[in-house]
Amino acid sequence: MCGITACIGTENSVELLIDGLRRLEYRGYDSAGIAVKNENGISVTKRVGEVSELVAAVEQNPISGTFGIGHTRWATHGGVTDGNAHPHTDESGRIAVVHNGIISNYQPLRAELESKGHTFSSETDTEVVPHLIEENLRNGASPEAAFRAAIGTLSGSYAITAIIGDEQAIFATRSGSPLVLGVGDGEYYLASDVPAFIQHTPRVVYLHDGDFVVTTPDGYTITDSAGRSVDRPIEYIEWDPETATKGGYEHYMYKEINEQPGALRRTTQGRLNTHTGGAELEEFPPGAFADISQIHLVAMGTSHHAGMYAASLLNARGIPAYAFMSGEYSVIKPPVTPNTLVIAVSQSGETADTLDAIRRARAAGARTLALTNVVGSSMTRECDDELLLRAGPEIGVAATKTFSSQVAALALLAERIAEDYNGTKSPDSRELIDALARLPGDVQEILDTSIAREIAIEYEDSDAYFFIGRGSAHPVALEGALKFKEISYEHAEGFAASELKHGPLALVTPITPVFAIFTGHEDEATLSNMKEVQARGAPVIAVTSDESREVVEFADHVLTIPDTHPEVAGILANVQLQLVAYHAANLLERPIDKPRNLAKCVTVE
Ligand code: F6R
Repeated sequence: MCGITACIGTENSVELLIDGLRRLEYRGYDSAGIAVKNENGISVTKRVGEVSELVAAVEQNPISGTFGIGHTRWATHGGVTDGNAHPHTDESGRIAVVHNGIISNYQPLRAELESKGHTFSSETDTEVVPHLIEENLRNGASPEAAFRAAIGTLSGSYAITAIIGDEQAIFATRSGSPLVLGVGDGEYYLASDVPAFIQHTPRVVYLHDGDFVVTTPDGYTITDSAGRSVDRPIEYIEWDPETATKGGYEHYMYKEINEQPGALRRTTQGRLNTHTGGAELEEFPPGAFADISQIHLVAMGTSHHAGMYAASLLNARGIPAYAFMSGEYSVIKPPVTPNTLVIAVSQSGETADTLDAIRRARAAGARTLALTNVVGSSMTRECDDELLLRAGPEIGVAATKTFSSQVAALALLAERIAEDYNGTKSPDSRELIDALARLPGDVQEILDTSIAREIAIEYEDSDAYFFIGRGSAHPVALEGALKFKEISYEHAEGFAASELKHGPLALVTPITPVFAIFTGHEDEATLSNMKEVQARGAPVIAVTSDESREVVEFADHVLTIPDTHPEVAGILANVQLQLVAYHAANLLERPIDKPRNLAKCVTVE
């Protein structure tokens, strides 16, 4: 995944492009570059490394321009080199292009262009685009026609912006990769994501696949691939621009962990009826799920863990529900019927594997629902229904607040579906709704009192870290381990507590701390597993709400969570584990917001 930014009609394009890239750096941080248009043509500066390297290069050799395009790269085709960094140009240097996605037919296109005399200077798929535009210009096309014709030959997924010749314009299009247009006062922005320009304008146009945009200092046009004008509404983003900054925190991840009470309030706002003790989702009035006979939850990574959690909530309500890694969904091909509801769980709404899974599900006749944080994302457009998380922007690569919001939203959804499926509310629906209403306060209590940092310090020199849990605590164990490994680079694994004796116990030693998660489901059995690992000398850190029980007596340490409904306890336990992972990584001085080899949104399979 890469980040695109562009601006026109602004005063200081270099500064704005670089600022936009900094805000999009979570999308890729292998290399960064900008191209700006000035009286001499197009000036390009690009460098391997983080945006700070680009800034240093621009400081050394200043460039200026009245408008431009920028890119932060997460390499897919071609190594991490200055030459492979974007923007890419044609031989004359009169066309500059940035691209996010993959052009799957770039090899035959490149061969054909080379046979016509074009010389390539990078190993990227992207470089075919400026050469295709150049070829079309040579054949007499206007800049816009040359751009359209070039795009028309591409297969794959892409969001592309381009500067062409002397045109005072930016040309852009998307197909399968995100691109949004920011509409300011005589200033226009294009970007992969809203945080790139939210501090300049809250007015956003969510572009659709196949849209072509031409922005000039005087305005913009949006047309379809046939050149017909299309009407896309301008939406007003209600974020405080501060939400997309670090706001005084050392890391976005820590800020986002601390934002969870607010995020959960927004996720549940207007959706909890504490009078009737029911879930109220205006998107899904009573009867909306009357035809559903089974549910598939498709997602990757953290979102998959939220999907697993939700499957356990749905199963507990008697509803057949299965969580799949979306990347495996098209391989496993689980049978679907028109009465199957396929829920895509995705923070970004753009994850390629999950998009692929819902496309497959739709083709097989299933009904699809997107649960996502990103308004206007591809999943919201491709699914039959959408439920928005409203967690606010998440910039840290490691998902934190969105997991909590996903599980809270899925708990509400499970309750709503169960009402239609069973014809009545769950017996403890009121307790669940009350627990969800208390959740922001309970999370705040953890944030205020957690001893996670002390635990991270005590076990800093361990060999490996294990996480165990049962039922809905199993995905929390997996999520605890995922967070730990991805930001600390230490070996961490999560297991179903029941699985321990069937192999993983062989890994347990006195220098492998085990985090045992107790959420009120089958705690006795997990307690036995905890004693088994202790018998092998491993220290146990219990994450539990019940201070009075044997767990506390036997555990070496306790990360306490407020007493709550068992179906909500996992969200609280996870907050403690997020904090442990964060502090462990911080002690090791890891680049927490940008872990090596990872990007926030994986738009390639
Ligand atoms: C881990 C993490 C990833 C994402 C996964 C899916 O902290 O963030 O595992 O959860 O790449 O991304 P989305 O939710 O955007 O589909």
